[in-house]
Amino acid sequence: MVSKSKFQAIRGTRDLLPPDTALWNRVEQTAHEIFTTYGFGEIRPPIFEATELFSRAVGGDTDIVGKEMYTFEDHNLIELEQHRAALIIRSVSVGLPSEFAKYERSVLAYADVVSERISIGDVPRTPENERALGGIRTCLGEAERAGKDFLGSQSSSDELAFEKYLKGVKQALRLLRFGDVISLRPEATASVCRAYIEHNMQQMPQPVKLYYMGPMFRRERPQKGRYRQFYQIGAEILGGPDAPAIDAELIEMLMNFFDKCGLQGTELDINSIGHSADNCRRGYVAKLKAELEKVKDQLGADSQRRIETNPLRVLDSKLEHEQPIIEKLPRIADHLCDDCKTHYAAVKRELELRGVLYRENWRLVRGLDYYMRTTFEITARGLGSQNAVCGGGRYDGLVELLGGPPTKGIGFAIGEDRLILSLQEQEKVKASRMGEISASITGKATVTGTLTNLSIVDVYIAWMGQNAYATAILAAKTLRNAGYRVELPPIEQKFGKALERASKLGSRFALILGDDEVTSGQWTLKTLADGSQQKLTEPALLEYLQKL
Ligand code: HAM
Repeated sequence: MVSKSKFQAIRGTRDLLPPDTALWNRVEQTAHEIFTTYGFGEIRPPIFEATELFSRAVGGDTDIVGKEMYTFEDHNLIELEQHRAALIIRSVSVGLPSEFAKYERSVLAYADVVSERISIGDVPRTPENERALGGIRTCLGEAERAGKDFLGSQSSSDELAFEKYLKGVKQALRLLRFGDVISLRPEATASVCRAYIEHNMQQMPQPVKLYYMGPMFRRERPQKGRYRQFYQIGAEILGGPDAPAIDAELIEMLMNFFDKCGLQGTELDINSIGHSADNCRRGYVAKLKAELEKVKDQLGADSQRRIETNPLRVLDSKLEHEQPIIEKLPRIADHLCDDCKTHYAAVKRELELRGVLYRENWRLVRGLDYYMRTTFEITARGLGSQNAVCGGGRYDGLVELLGGPPTKGIGFAIGEDRLILSLQEQEKVKASRMGEISASITGKATVTGTLTNLSIVDVYIAWMGQNAYATAILAAKTLRNAGYRVELPPIEQKFGKALERASKLGSRFALILGDDEVTSGQWTLKTLADGSQQKLTEPALLEYLQKL
């Protein structure tokens, strides 16, 4: 018996397969087309970056940075790491000076090896590593002294000091970094800002408009619409003014994109979270914190923790029993400074000018630290609890925070997995209403049209005989060049078998090529749905298909 493969996609990741991938491609193609018409160019940042880029940009206290990043040290010094692990787990007794002396020699020899590796550039020369090496040597010296004192005094305070410094040695060993600490990107805004600075894009005509698409990684609890590897389509506008028309046009582009994808029933929520000044968000957060303290006992553990780490995030809570409490909390709109209030009002006006429907949501605070002023989120149908299909907002301070010049910024990211899921759910509902799946073909279908066409073949070429085979190869080439999806069997089949296979593949047509067809130049085209047949020359066949 053949055993089932033990290899499976890692939890939270999945294979995207045909015919779904055709829809993914169409959605991505739509993004390329729509975003280009608004003046955006594509950027493809790397999949991994320095961990510090994300912790600075997204924020050390956020769930993304605190719990969800895939982080590792980028090196292949396995033996150095194993040696360190052995030194960390080795136990050393204060009462056995020869044991300590041996340990001390091993650790010092190890520190010398690391120093040597630093000098030849194998291990990064960072202040942290220099500090760790210093810490190892100092703590070893102190432990040796405490150990000697203990041998004379047998006092517990000397023993405790010995233990403390030994622990110090091990802690310093742990702090050594043999390579750069890097993370798989949990999002791409930080990367785009890093690239803006790195490539001196502030010298280019402002604002710079960039879009991207690709996989992101977050170690979240997987469920429908939530994966550990997921895909985003995002756009960022960097530099130039912070005119409210920029916020509104970006949102308009987004809604236009969803529209072109055929996604129905989207809802746009907007808010302004002000800027980080005492007379604006900081003042509000202090007030919110004070109010939350008063009701702390009635809140769940997560919200209680957030009162300390990030009180705004309490507003995000979905816990039912917290809802009436949250509704009574002070609202940010009543605490915005005059400039932020004016900006928010103008964004709403600009949206109205563009006919973009929105709903104000004072609880929309977003889970990343870099936002200020405008925030927005779009929800879609058919997604269950993970119904946010897009999130974004303004982040005027971010480029500066990452070491660049003061730069305005705003952007969004669409969850592509969720967008696809919602499109598919929508199509399922439609299909069950119509009681049938309409057949659409020609490869020139609209995005939603593709969904109804579950087949990946337009024309199946049923050929018999070597003469017909040569014609079949040429016919396949011609049809493919004209954009049709063609299946050309590599081995001769009886016509009956070939037609059976064509239907199994969901092909709409079978092009029958035998000796008769080759001699007469009149090819037989069979429509599989109704079994009808017609004779056509090659040009007439193309014309016929194109007319459909
Ligand atoms: P975000 O809200 O963290 O924002 O993610 C944006 C979208 O990505 C979400 O609305 C959701 O559709 C999708 N998403 C997030 N996590 C997952 C997951 N685990 N599985 C499936 N889909 C997911 C950002 O990432 C910001 N960088 C957006 C932005 C760009 N703000 C300004 N510029």
